[in-house]
Amino acid sequence: MFLPKFDVNLSKTFKLYTMNTQATYKAFRVEENDGKFTTAIKDMPFLEISEGELLIKVSYSSLNYKDALSATGNKGVTRNFPHTPGIDATGVIVASHSNKFKIADEVIVTSYDLGMNTDGGFAEYVKVPVEWVVKLPAGLSMKEAMMIGTAGLTAGLSVLRLTETVQPDNGAIAVSGATGGVGSVSLAILNKLGYKTVAITSKNSEVDFLKKLGANEVILREDFENLDKKPLLKPLYAGAIDTVGGTILENLIKSVSPMGTVSCCGNVASPKLELTVFPFILRGVSLIGIDSQNYPMEYREKVWSKLATEWKLDTLAETTTEIALEDLQAKINLMLEGKLKGRTIIKL
Ligand SMILES: NC(=O)c1ccc[n+]([C@@H]2O[C@H](COP(=O)([O-])OP(=O)(O)OC[C@H]3O[C@@H](n4cnc5c(N)ncnc54)[C@H](OP(=O)(O)O)[C@@H]3O)[C@@H](O)[C@H]2O)c1
Repeated sequence: MFLPKFDVNLSKTFKLYTMNTQATYKAFRVEENDGKFTTAIKDMPFLEISEGELLIKVSYSSLNYKDALSATGNKGVTRNFPHTPGIDATGVIVASHSNKFKIADEVIVTSYDLGMNTDGGFAEYVKVPVEWVVKLPAGLSMKEAMMIGTAGLTAGLSVLRLTETVQPDNGAIAVSGATGGVGSVSLAILNKLGYKTVAITSKNSEVDFLKKLGANEVILREDFENLDKKPLLKPLYAGAIDTVGGTILENLIKSVSPMGTVSCCGNVASPKLELTVFPFILRGVSLIGIDSQNYPMEYREKVWSKLATEWKLDTLAETTTEIALEDLQAKINLMLEGKLKGRTIIKL
């Protein structure tokens, strides 16, 4: 049971809270036995929070590729098990040892170490350092924030960095992994900002879905992967948001116009890049890496604030599926097979 040691008022508040509600909380746990990984929903005892930490009653979490890796025992994401994945959470503060936040504040926590080596958002409660927490901006509900989640934040950071150098009248922006979480939100934001977009996807069946998100053109992944192996290709795009890496990222960099910008955030296709320096030294192309996990707080707050106002997406609900903790394993399996479409949020 959670009992803060040095804040009498806080202790009373939370004791009353737990007395009136519950003594344990539910979490989606991943366990390792003899090198095999299994998942189950378990009852967990409440933990103490220390100075500089917050206890958050989670309202929603969301599913990201890293969660799927953690849930299947990927040691590059999570070193030690048992563990609760979930790199995203929104919720209400129920205990605070910080001046920055007070009880009942609605907040967002994404990335840093949440869900990696710190128990994450696939649980009714999370305890986190105050530095990881963003106040929910006015204009965004907790549910909407998780429809966006780390995937949307990554999309937002990619768009923010791209739009620093590429304007709508410079030409179209290509987006790879277009039906995925990062890709679909990127397309929707770019559409809202007036950019023409070209979606690259493996899913012939999702052309209408992508056009509805605002894609002006859809290219099939296999066609884009099998372009000429030359060091430079015809310059077709003013910029690109790549979410998959490998040959697709190589071909995007080779197909961007002079002074164009390409952002890169993922490696579902491959972490390898085989390129010459020519796109960079003959066309002045810039390649920007996006690491949402450690991106400075000022950028996070800026992107969340834009997502609540001028970038606010009215297509989010249509592209999001809401599930319960009990349905999570099936969605994780689909994500690992590359078959998930749009965003998945988990209601706690
Ligand atoms: N750097 C960061 O800060 C950061 C943050 C979030 C995510 N990421 C990374 O970004 C990537 C996308 O994340 P997400 O949340 O959008 O994942 P997601 O929802 O699973 O979407 C990934 C999409 O990539 C495409 N894809 C899947 N397997 C592929 C393959 N073998 N080759 C080429 N394309 C493939 C599929 O789209 P189509 O069928 O439409 O092609 C799929 O829907 C992941 O690698 C993730 O780890 C990085």
